[in-house]
Amino acid sequence: MSAAGGVPARPLPSADDPRIPTHIGIIMDGNGRWAQSRGLPRAAGHRKGVEALRRTVRHAGELGVGYLTIFSFSSENWSRPAQEIASLMSLLRRFIQQDLKELAQANVRVIPIGRRDDLADDIRALLVEAEETTRANTGLTLLVAFNYGGRDEIARACRKLAERVRAGELDPAAIDETLLACELDTAGIPDPDLIIRTSGENRLSNFTMWQAAYSEFVFVPQHWPDFDEASLEAAIREFCNRDRRFGGLAAGMTGG
Ligand code: IPE
Ligand code: IPE
Ligand code: MG
Repeated sequence: MSAAGGVPARPLPSADDPRIPTHIGIIMDGNGRWAQSRGLPRAAGHRKGVEALRRTVRHAGELGVGYLTIFSFSSENWSRPAQEIASLMSLLRRFIQQDLKELAQANVRVIPIGRRDDLADDIRALLVEAEETTRANTGLTLLVAFNYGGRDEIARACRKLAERVRAGELDPAAIDETLLACELDTAGIPDPDLIIRTSGENRLSNFTMWQAAYSEFVFVPQHWPDFDEASLEAAIREFCNRDRRFGGLAAGMTGG
């Protein structure tokens, strides 16, 4: 494969190379604009986006990525027209109904994150089914952020801690970052190393607010339906060139 301009792309690190991000988050944006630029209804962009999702999940697994979080429907997306919400809900239904078997066979573990209580009963049941069916799988972990908002997730975690304090099980003085993280939907999952957002928007839009504290961001101009294997590899390559310091000093720097 060649990069743009005929320059050969540098090889990617192999799956067990520590430079392959353990956890990638993707804000799959631009389905509507992809469709509108072709004179198609927005729903056609969402449908095409599912194809990009399938190839990205497959390729992330092939590259040895441990965790992939996909932002599918945000807590704020309820403000869209009812017809678009209905089409996004149907798409999730169809994705789980059509792809769960294949994901399970590919050893993918599916973990839904986000609020469940305001979803339709059948969607809740499908999310539970996806989680239960794949619980024992040991390949790629696919976190499906559906009806998810980072602020909502943190607020729900705080409520759970407050309930434990009220029950007399927890001393408020014991509440620290670790304890709060244990109440998030992502408890036990390492933070995203790399967050990719498509479609040229340079913002988080309430995606993994807590977990993104030290994530590297790669913003790509492509709309989500155009995202492919080469786009994923290019983002990982860019990630490999970043110098992550986590508040410390660059490797090899001793100060002075
Ligand atoms: C991303 O595409 C999918 C969801 C947010 C559910 P958009 O629907 O946001 O597409 P644009 O950003 O309007 O082009
Ligand atoms: C973020 O995209 C949500 C998802 C990709 C599911 P949006 O399109 O909703 O974000 P904004 O409104 O442009 O910030
Ligand atoms: Mg958008």
